Amino acid sequence: MSIDRYYTLGRSGLRVSRLSLGTMTFGTEWGWGADKDAARQVFDLYLDAGGNFIDTADAYTNGTSEAWLGEFIAARQARDQVVLASKFGFNLGNRNANGGGNGRKHVLKAVEGSLRRLGTDYLDVLYLHVWDQITSADEVIRTLNDLVRDGKVRHLGLSDVPAWYAARIQTLAEWRGLEPISALQLQYSLVERNLEHEYTRLAIELGMGLAVWSPLASGLLSGKYRKGDATSGRLATMQGSGNPAFQHLSERNWQIVAALEDVARQLDRPMNQVALNWVAHRPAVSSVTVGASRPEQLKSNLQALDFELPVELRQRLDEASAPPQPFPYYFFTNTMQGMLYGGATVGDKPDGYHANVLVSGSGSGVS
Ligand SMILES: NC(=O)c1ccc[n+]([C@@H]2O[C@H](COP(=O)([O-])OP(=O)(O)OC[C@H]3O[C@@H](n4cnc5c(N)ncnc54)[C@H](OP(=O)(O)O)[C@@H]3O)[C@@H](O)[C@H]2O)c1
Repeated sequence: MSIDRYYTLGRSGLRVSRLSLGTMTFGTEWGWGADKDAARQVFDLYLDAGGNFIDTADAYTNGTSEAWLGEFIAARQARDQVVLASKFGFNLGNRNANGGGNGRKHVLKAVEGSLRRLGTDYLDVLYLHVWDQITSADEVIRTLNDLVRDGKVRHLGLSDVPAWYAARIQTLAEWRGLEPISALQLQYSLVERNLEHEYTRLAIELGMGLAVWSPLASGLLSGKYRKGDATSGRLATMQGSGNPAFQHLSERNWQIVAALEDVARQLDRPMNQVALNWVAHRPAVSSVTVGASRPEQLKSNLQALDFELPVELRQRLDEASAPPQPFPYYFFTNTMQGMLYGGATVGDKPDGYHANVLVSGSGSGVS
């Protein structure tokens, strides 16, 4: 299995599996997910396949994800071999003004909670979970660096933040000789490609690997949901929940699913594997975080990198899922850029991308 090849995360020396294991499904507190027995099987399957990169958050399933993960890692005495990532930011339930967000007071407390639940004295990667619109970039990077200096955290990441904020944090880190941000965790899949407007180039220019979440759009791209018949599974449960991350049952997306189904048929591969393969090979992607509520789902997902997507089928998927190009991004397409050069051919960039730039992670595989 190709999962036991490891790639560097951003510009760090940390080697991680191209497919990481998401554990937001560990626990049933949110009305979906896996019970403890299934979660343990998923965990064992991932480690047995050679996977080393595991993603959790203090807020997942109200702390259950971290607690079970801590138990599972201890049972296999795998702490050294595992690259353990967690996140802070969400308020875990009380009316405390500093009980959430990204200010120093909360961050330090949140990390203590994660370490306790996970039964470890350090995290390999610590992510800021969501931008709080309040805390300055300056406070964030200094707080995160203190955690690195204290030995509680090895590497740093940002998740769900505006591109300008990530760029400011990284630039401050660079100029002050602080620990840089190694990973940007963002939603990316055939049905959610908006990060391409800003974050692909940001990641490449400033040395952050993209760690992709919801690569199957919460299961939509496995093909198990059918138009007019989406009655069970996470997307059905979360329909109307008001959480936009789970609202994928749209006309536009059904058309993308149809194109994916066609490509998967031609390749004689399950749709989930083709969708994961597509996103894993997008520019700047360091790792794709796969989720599973059952071991057989993970088993299939782990085979997603065992084949190559032929160029013409990749292009078919690119075109079927192309995101809209709102202002100012339409100025950066080849059509508009051509006007800068009076019609002369200047480069061979495909529309909107930077495929000719060396992509983080590629070529640095360790067998
Ligand atoms: N930073 C953030 O804001 C953020 C947000 C979300 C997630 N994440 C991270 O990213 C990880 C992955 O996200 P995700 O769980 O949304 O990923 P996903 O791969 O898009 O969705 C996983 C879900 O898809 C279904 N599925 C997976 N493999 C399948 C298969 N082979 N056949 C059929 N159905 C399949 C299952 O749904 P059912 O359970 O319904 O069967 C599974 O729970 C999370 O665990 C978490 O670590 C981060």
